[in-house]
Amino acid sequence: MKTFVCRVCGHVAFEQAPVDCPVCKAPIENFDNNPEAIHMPEDPENLTEMEKKHIPVITISKECKLITGGECIDVHVKVGEIEHVMESEHYISFIDFYINKRYLARFNLRYKRLHPAFALCLNVDGGLLTVIDCCSVNGSWMAEVNF
Ligand SMILES: [Fe+2]
Repeated sequence: MKTFVCRVCGHVAFEQAPVDCPVCKAPIENFDNNPEAIHMPEDPENLTEMEKKHIPVITISKECKLITGGECIDVHVKVGEIEHVMESEHYISFIDFYINKRYLARFNLRYKRLHPAFALCLNVDGGLLTVIDCCSVNGSWMAEVNF
């Protein structure tokens, strides 16, 4: 998997670097090809403690309580099967979402008053959802789910 990382905001692009970063608008020169930009579990059946604290856990629900009428897919993301800490020196700084490997949205977090989690309402029929979270100390971690 080819991954390109924005030096300005840490956004990860797949396959090729974008002309402008969709998050911070930095031009393409700011993207580095870094195949090791994202941590993936070595053995998905047997996560290490570090992986359990960083890999996003994704829950999909086709029954949205906010957007009614059956046209919404709820996505709940929590960082870490063991909830990641949110402290001034060590916290989850953002969560990026992609549909079919194309950037969708970023949620920026601060360590105060927030859990390392986010929920969004998707207006798409289905596809591959990719979630990347960024830890201020331990880098970027990814999980994917087809829905
Ligand atoms: Fe961490």
